[in-house]
Amino acid sequence: MGKIADKYIKIDKWKIIEDGFNAYNGMVSESIFSLGNEYMGVRGYFDEGYSGEKLIGSYLNGIIEKDEIKLSNSYKGMVKNKTYMVNTVDWLYTRISIDGEELDLSRSNIREFKRILDMKQGILTREFIWDTSKGKSIKITFERFVSMVESKLGCQKIVFEPLNFSGNIEVESGLDFSRWHQAEKKNLWACPKKGKEKNIIAILGETLKSKQKVLSAFELKGVPEEIVRYFMEEKFVGVKFSLFLDKSKKRRLEKIVVNYAEKNISKTIEEVWKDGMAVAKKLCSIEYEKAFGQQRDYWESVWKSSDIVIEGDEENQQGIRYCIFQLYQTYHGEDSRFNIGAKGLTGEAYSGNTFWDTETYCLPFYIFNNPRAAKNLIEFRYKTLPEARKRAAELDCEGAFYPIATNDGSETCGLWQHASLQLQASTGVAYAIWHYDKLIEDKKFLYTKGIEMLIEISRMLASRGQWGQKNNKFGYFAVMGPDEFQMMVNNNFYTNIMGKKTLAYTLEVLIEMTLKAPQQLNEIEKKLKLCSQELEDWKLKEENMYIPYDEKTGIYEQHDGYFDLPHINIHSIPVEQFPLYHSWSYDRIYRNDMIKQPDVLMYMFLHNQEFSFETKKINYEYYEPRTIHESSLSPSIHSILASELKKYGEAFEFFKFATRMDLDNYNRNTNEGLHTTSIAAAWMNIVYGFGGMRSDGKILAFKPSIPDTWKSYSFNLLYKGTLLHFKIDNKFVTVYRINGPVVKVNIYDEDYLLDSNEVKIALQ
Ligand code: BGC
Repeated sequence: MGKIADKYIKIDKWKIIEDGFNAYNGMVSESIFSLGNEYMGVRGYFDEGYSGEKLIGSYLNGIIEKDEIKLSNSYKGMVKNKTYMVNTVDWLYTRISIDGEELDLSRSNIREFKRILDMKQGILTREFIWDTSKGKSIKITFERFVSMVESKLGCQKIVFEPLNFSGNIEVESGLDFSRWHQAEKKNLWACPKKGKEKNIIAILGETLKSKQKVLSAFELKGVPEEIVRYFMEEKFVGVKFSLFLDKSKKRRLEKIVVNYAEKNISKTIEEVWKDGMAVAKKLCSIEYEKAFGQQRDYWESVWKSSDIVIEGDEENQQGIRYCIFQLYQTYHGEDSRFNIGAKGLTGEAYSGNTFWDTETYCLPFYIFNNPRAAKNLIEFRYKTLPEARKRAAELDCEGAFYPIATNDGSETCGLWQHASLQLQASTGVAYAIWHYDKLIEDKKFLYTKGIEMLIEISRMLASRGQWGQKNNKFGYFAVMGPDEFQMMVNNNFYTNIMGKKTLAYTLEVLIEMTLKAPQQLNEIEKKLKLCSQELEDWKLKEENMYIPYDEKTGIYEQHDGYFDLPHINIHSIPVEQFPLYHSWSYDRIYRNDMIKQPDVLMYMFLHNQEFSFETKKINYEYYEPRTIHESSLSPSIHSILASELKKYGEAFEFFKFATRMDLDNYNRNTNEGLHTTSIAAAWMNIVYGFGGMRSDGKILAFKPSIPDTWKSYSFNLLYKGTLLHFKIDNKFVTVYRINGPVVKVNIYDEDYLLDSNEVKIALQ
């Protein structure tokens, strides 16, 4: 697969440990040690400044800059404006010097470096001993966390311990808006206001074009007021002081920071300053230890309900906890104006954009762990429906066309073939509504916002599709399915069948509403001017949707003509040529039957129960050898299907990439940020893969297996308000209810009522 592990992180069940400073992996570690709390995220960069390779990245969810896309020729439908999650304020800014010598890990003499992310408590610690050129040795420990409880709060603690001297240390601490946005190679902030009110020092930044505002403020604790000198520059505010340290005695500083983001550009600088300072005054007074106590409690409750425990495989134990940790950090449903970027809040690649990944890869994790978050993710799509409507009109369609890449609902993907030809964001939203309703049964949502989105997506699907001349069947022409190595194809299997599914589901909900919610049906019909001819039209198109299938072999053809494409043996491609986007000419990628990520198999995962074991096997065996997994989303889906097909060795091989995708830098680009949406697939890989869960049928069903090398694994699922515990070992599958009403599940094709008794059955 062209993926090789780069292992330098120490294995530990609860901690991510870097033992010894590793400059070569500097930016990879910055990504790995990222912290976030949905509202903001900060890379694991060094607080004290560093002259080596780095990305001092600090992001606030939804804070974006915008720009024109410079095109020499622009046609209708091509995206003309881009938005990107912009690098904001370095709130950890610190500079340290002794005897005029500045601490800089790429130049200073340091030893006993250790960086530890403690996932149980949600805190990052870094420590080392610095031997100055004048022979002074000092141990310095940095600690930081972003509060999961107070989302605008970030806390930093620095502890100095002089080992062989008493004397002064010079410290600067501040808030720095002068950082570059790395992808644009420039700074994108103006700082129209700075100031000090009592102990709080603050700066207000405004993005140059989007005019969004961020107020950043801090209070420093542990330094006597009289020694502190307050100073400011154009895009910086901070303090300087000289601290006397006693030999062998620890001295600590605490910096309590508030970052307040305002996206509403009609708010004036003065208003944002006032609102932000009010929050800062409230939050900055908190004691570090108290805030940390809240943080610990938060994570304790997360792990209590959402942990996955693997016995007999510490590497993957660490890996899966890391995935769960990062998913919660990225999103936990605080605000439905936020979504999940492909890189979360950990880097600038993919510009902070949300893709169809949210609905197809991330949503199951939230449905089964945090339904409120699941709902808010779908609400995001409702809130951005007006943008999707605009996009449909730009593409000469009716209804709503959801963007393939977005920050705020508008399409921001500059590659027209992706932005205009991919329908999977729209069908993904419909799939999410269906999946959420199936598992959560939130009819209030379905009969109001859900149905509105479904109708608008169906309108788009009915207007975007056309009738083929030869077969007189309905289908989608000139599209790009999930396999992005094939563009402008006709009748892509995934697109057609997801279109069919969406139209059928919309009609089904409308019928359900005639019986169960006539009043709401009436309202939506009026609001959207829905008429019976339209429904008839959808029905006709749904019933006549062309599904490319070869009767002789039982293989669904990925798109018209796919079987005729020149074959390429993917194993003959030298490993150094991956990722192919970097080494092959763009069009060469399209000229063969090589697949980037699952397409036919993707649908067979999403609507798994519609296919027989035999059909899945035939299709898996045909498509898997043609797939190069250039997308990190790809291996887990193959692993899940391989488990089902009892190809256990293969399932485990694919699984290896999932939990440790970033910890072992499998795709060689973790430096750019984490593969946040792929790590959601790691959770699916265990629960849907080894756990054999299927959530698309009438009842939640399981066919568990266990990798040979594992002693056991266990996970919890929140299902219809009931928290269930599953444990699978080499002999048994044990399931019981932790709390909530009695529910029924299916295990190895038998239904079990989970009342007060545990169910224990032999592993098959
Ligand atoms: C994949 C897409 C995905 C995007 C963001 C691309 O490489 O092909 O399916 O949505 O990455 O993760």
